Order: sequence, then C-alpha cells, then structure tokens
Amino acid sequence: MDQFTFPKDFFWGTATASYQIEGAYQEDGRGLSTWDAFTRRPGKILNNDTGDIACDHYHRYPEDVAIMKELGLNSYRFSIAWPRIFPSGKGTLNQKGVDFYDKLIDLLLKNNIEPFITLFHWDLPLKLEEDLGGWRNKETAKLFADYVSVMADRFSDRVKHWTTMNEIICFTMLAHRDDKHAPGKKEPRKIVLQTVHNAMLGHGLGVQSLRAHAKQKVQVGLVDNPRVTWPAIPTPENIEAAKKAFKASNQHILFPAMTGEYSDPYLESLGADKPDFTDEEMKIIASPTDYVGFNMYSGDAILASGKPDGFESLPFPQDYPKTDMGWSIAPRGLYYLLKFANEYFPGKELYVTENGMAAIDSESENGDVNDTGRMEYLRSHMEMVAKGLKEGLPIKGYFVWSLLDNFEWAFGLGKRFGIVRVNYSNQKRTIKLSGRYLAESIKAGKVLI
Ligand code: FCB
Repeated sequence: MDQFTFPKDFFWGTATASYQIEGAYQEDGRGLSTWDAFTRRPGKILNNDTGDIACDHYHRYPEDVAIMKELGLNSYRFSIAWPRIFPSGKGTLNQKGVDFYDKLIDLLLKNNIEPFITLFHWDLPLKLEEDLGGWRNKETAKLFADYVSVMADRFSDRVKHWTTMNEIICFTMLAHRDDKHAPGKKEPRKIVLQTVHNAMLGHGLGVQSLRAHAKQKVQVGLVDNPRVTWPAIPTPENIEAAKKAFKASNQHILFPAMTGEYSDPYLESLGADKPDFTDEEMKIIASPTDYVGFNMYSGDAILASGKPDGFESLPFPQDYPKTDMGWSIAPRGLYYLLKFANEYFPGKELYVTENGMAAIDSESENGDVNDTGRMEYLRSHMEMVAKGLKEGLPIKGYFVWSLLDNFEWAFGLGKRFGIVRVNYSNQKRTIKLSGRYLAESIKAGKVLI
C-alpha cells in the first residue's frame, strides 16, 4: 500500500444540509424553521438571500444523485428537515415530508451510495422557538428525541449511519450570543450556556432514542467542529502543547459530549453563569456513541511556551493563504485533529464529516470551472487523512463540503463551497475541476499527486 492509498471500504462522500440546498420551503406541508424567520430579518444575510429556493434539491434530487454516481462517491451525508416531518415540531406527522426522504434514500441505495443521515443541521421548527423558547428549554431536547424515534422507525431499516446533531456551537453560541445564526439574539451568558447544555442533552437523548427504535445495528455519532490545533514545528514538546491546547479549547462541547463531564476549571470559569444540569443529564449526554465526526476547515499553529497553560497560539500573518471565507488554510491541523481525537477518545471511529473551501469561482467561456484552489485544498487535506490511515488511526470516511454551491447561512448564496457549480438563475449544475480531481482520486483509491 503506497503512502496515499485508501482502504477499499473507505467512505468517500460529500455533505449537504437541508436548509442549504432543498428550497421548496412551503411545499408539501413543510412547516417553517427558525432559518425561514431569520432570513426575513433585513441585513442578517448577505444580500438578504434566503433558502426559499436554494439549489431546488427538493425537486432536483434525482439529478443530484446522478452527479454523485458520476463522481464515484459511495456515500452521502445529508440532513433531514425536522419541520418537513413535524411542521410544528411535534404532534401530527407530515407524511409527504417522510416520502421525500424515503425516495431519496431509496435512490441513493439503488446507486450504491450509503446514506449518512444528520438529524439536526440547524433548521429548528419555528413553532418550538415561539412556543417553548427552542433550545433554551429542555423540553426541546425531549421533543428532538421523539422526532428521532420516528425517523429511526421510518428509515433505519435501510440507513445504518446516523448523526444526531451538526456543530452545536453554531445554533447555540453563534445564534444566542452573537445574533449571527437563527434564531438570532444577543442573550446573557447563562442562557447561551444553557442552550449548549440542552442541545447536548438532546444529542444524548437522541442517541438513546435511535438505539431503542433502530431496526438494525446502527452507527451513531455526533458531528462537531472543534477548535483545531497543530504544532508549528512538530517536536515532542510542541506536539504535547498542541494536544493540550486542543483539550483546553474544546471544554464547552466536544469534551463534555464525549466524557459526560464539564471539567472543574471550566465550571469555575463560568461562575454563576454555569448551566443548570444534573448528574443524570450528564450520563445521558455521554450515552455511548460509535464515532465522532469532525467538520474541519482551519486550525491554529501552536508552540510550547513557558506560560501557565503551556502553549501559545501563533497569529497568522496578513498574507497567509486563506479561503474566500477568510479562513486560514491549515491542512496539518486535520492530521493532528484525528490523532489527538484518537488519543483522547480511544475506541471511537473517526470521520471527517466536512472539509472543503469557499472560493471565488468563475466559468470559462466554454462553461468549465477550473477551481484549482479548491482542488489543491482537497488534495492537501486528503493527504493528511491518508497519513492518519497509514498510522492506523480508525478513520472511516471523508466527506467534502459540499456537493453543490449552496446557501451559506449568513453569507447567503455569495460563498461557493461546491465541487459542483450551481447557476442560481437556471439551476444548471456543472462539475468543477475539483470534483473531477476527487472522482479520479476515488477511482484510483488514493490521493493523486
Ligand atoms: C459548517 C456547516 C456547514 C457549512 C460549512 C461551510 O460550519 O456545518 O453547514 O456551512 O460550515
């Protein structure tokens, strides 16, 4: 096996999320989500874009699955819109919403593409926000578990891989502290931290609910986007410092979600703002999972230092290479993320559930999109996955964010992450150079250098 070869059963996929691609926001009985409301607030989204139509995937999913097939992908990570299933978040089920995902799952399987379902990628039923206060209320965590049980009943005969939630920080801290994501507010720290805790509780209850209702042995995990740290110069001291920095920076979500404990120093740092929680809830949060998924886009270079915590984070110079999001490109961070995760959470399978870059793409005269920047971004990160595999890390899959250009939350349609271009005026899809490079790498079973 050469240095860059991947195992035969490795999952090569792309990832998407319901609100970012589906559109059809009022169709077939879908209820409104917090994102439908948030995008209506003037100035919150670049150009006041919305996900009303997005990539129109709700209608065009057969074409999108055909593209995955053409690219040789053997897996697809997508999310279910809770408000399509339960328009009010609970109560009456919307069968047409179930039908949509049924058809999608069947088509994927027919094409030998393994479905990876994410149960919550931020589009909370608006009614739960209005009536209960959304994630501020522990009741939402229980209702999430109820919704999960129905999804397990309906889909787990065919779907083996499940994620409870995507990036808890984004619908708690970015939403309730920073007013940047739905539902969007600037609230006191105590409330913000309570939303984080309640979301983790929802994750734990969701894991239990899936296990209780699954029709076959399923793989369940959480997807997180931790702060990533890597040793600038990988001496043993600096590696140790980066590992410490990784732990110290991820005390609010990743570590408690994996271990079922908030660390004492962390709780002390919160003082009176610490969330209300019980021992029983912490046990639920730590319900055993099979894997952890990481969304990785950037990371900080670390050196050991004489400071009390033992590390220092190096600022990136102004001319350091960045993506169109302004995120510094740090492929080595991916290798160290997987390595540190394996050391801190031994026995967990590891997935790269998102990795990719926003770029300023342009179409050439003949319609080609030669996104060399994105191609090189993917190549350099895939090499790090290959390195991890070679060293025996239990990495099971790599999912590019994203299949399609799509609605990039607060940045609207303005930031393009796809390996497939979407022309929003006619919804035409074009496979970009990066997509063709990925397809050839998959075909070869290795990162092509
Ligand atoms: C992640 C999100 C995903 C997408 C990418 C760029 O934080 O999970 O929906 O927006 O970033």
